Amino acid sequence: MKLHRKTVNYSLMPEETNPFIEIFNDPEQAAKYADGPAKFMPGFFDLHIMANVLIRERAPSNAHILVHGAGGGLELEALAAKNPQWTFLGVDPAKAMLDEAQRRLGVQNSRVNLHHGFIETAPEGPFDAATSLLTLHFLAADARQTTVSEIVRRLKPGAPFIAAHSSFPQDENERDAWLRRYREFAVASGADPDMADNARNAVAETIPLLDPDIDEAIFRAAGLQNVTMFYAAFTWRGWVGYAP
Ligand SMILES: C[S@@+](CC[C@H](N)C(=O)[O-])C[C@H]1O[C@@H](n2cnc3c(N)ncnc32)[C@H](O)[C@@H]1O
Repeated sequence: MKLHRKTVNYSLMPEETNPFIEIFNDPEQAAKYADGPAKFMPGFFDLHIMANVLIRERAPSNAHILVHGAGGGLELEALAAKNPQWTFLGVDPAKAMLDEAQRRLGVQNSRVNLHHGFIETAPEGPFDAATSLLTLHFLAADARQTTVSEIVRRLKPGAPFIAAHSSFPQDENERDAWLRRYREFAVASGADPDMADNARNAVAETIPLLDPDIDEAIFRAAGLQNVTMFYAAFTWRGWVGYAP
């Protein structure tokens, strides 16, 4: 697989060779993306329902929502289906994944703008809520901090930010046990065992995994208030926090 370096600037990425990043830039792989997450993340589709509940606690019926890491369009599709008046900005540096989102959204595209690039160059909003699902784990701690701060800066006061990604204890013994469980969950959920092994190894070797405490510290340092973990399953955590 080849990185499309001309159209995608992955300078914020910890590793240019990260195999997941190659997948997001590959149209064939992006077309298959939707089959993957539910096999690797317990309750993946319930996460969209939870995000919807958390956003609706604060957002108006005509809310404008920022979806960070919007490639594939799965959470855009879920949120748009339940909220016919919401409008969305989806941000993602991978063209193939944005194309896939556009294809999936069909008629809902009329309420969705897609920004091909990173958050730093995205429209300023302000937004009534933001999500970043299965995305922030690809960023090293410094880039993660900058990215979360840029998202929070674009929110109206009190607006919720919902993030969920790979985050689990990184001390040696615990780390291996959770990675093994990540692999076993995927196989038990129908993933091909070789593919599950590859995913486990790619997560272990190429993703800048952080402890949940460090993720929470990043959210707080970005100014988010009342940061609360609302989701925890094997190697995954989800939080909600509110813009100052
Ligand atoms: C695992 S997919 C998750 C897609 C979607 N949020 C979901 O839950 O199905 C990760 C997405 O994040 C995007 N991504 C990677 N780094 C990013 C960054 N710095 N800013 C925004 N999106 C990024 C990838 O291109 C990819 O589309």
